[in-house]
Amino acid sequence: MAQAAQSPARYDSVADFYAAGFPDRYDDSATAALLDLAGPVDGLDVLDLACGHGRITRELARRGGRATGIDIAGRLIEKAEDLQRTEPLGIAYAVSDASAPGDALRDAAFDLVVCCFGLSDIDGLDGAMATVARCLRPGGRFVFSILHPCFPGAGDISGSWPPDGSYFHEGRWTAVGSRSTLRQQVGANHRMLSTYVAALSGHGLNLDVLREATPPAEWETSAPVAARHPVFLAASCSLRQH
Ligand SMILES: C[S@@+](CC[C@H](N)C(=O)[O-])C[C@H]1O[C@@H](n2cnc3c(N)ncnc32)[C@H](O)[C@@H]1O
Repeated sequence: MAQAAQSPARYDSVADFYAAGFPDRYDDSATAALLDLAGPVDGLDVLDLACGHGRITRELARRGGRATGIDIAGRLIEKAEDLQRTEPLGIAYAVSDASAPGDALRDAAFDLVVCCFGLSDIDGLDGAMATVARCLRPGGRFVFSILHPCFPGAGDISGSWPPDGSYFHEGRWTAVGSRSTLRQQVGANHRMLSTYVAALSGHGLNLDVLREATPPAEWETSAPVAARHPVFLAASCSLRQH
């Protein structure tokens, strides 16, 4: 395992909270969209970038992928490895910064890279896209999901940018919405949609498919204003062939 990470491992201090709040469930609309875009993974070499405690990595491995997971938070990787002792799936985990993975991914090659709700946590987007492009095989795909950059938030649910801010002002911020319990603790990087597309394109990744997964059905009653907005975004990209 791993070299020292350069960016802050913010999830180390919320590892128990995160693992308890995000168990191995895959039926919410955002996760379902991500896995649907990933498609069949049986026999593929798959990297889960910013894998946390391995929630998605395990499902990719259960579906037959040869899975690797990297995350900057050592405490989450410890949890992933603990879980692997009870459910052995042959996953290789490493503590590593997605934007500068160094030895962790040296000479690694994948058919598919997946990143579930990790990009807004990663401070160095450009470095992370360079990592994706570098370790994808020709014809490989990158599939990711994020909070929709255009979601303004509503009521007690925080959006992608601060309530007193603007979609057009990018940067790190900390959520205040009382239902945004994770983002109150770890914050997030807000980036415009055009910034994500430029970062992908700058590293030879074509954006092929976008899915705007519907908000949770229970928001119709508990958060009716938020429920009318785009909340989740999932995308499938392919490495441009030269
Ligand atoms: C919202 S969690 C998602 C975790 C996992 N993908 C899941 O779906 O459960 C975001 C993750 O990004 C990780 N992260 C943040 N910055 C990172 C970086 N520079 N390199 C690797 N992982 C990073 C955090 O440690 C955290 O585990």
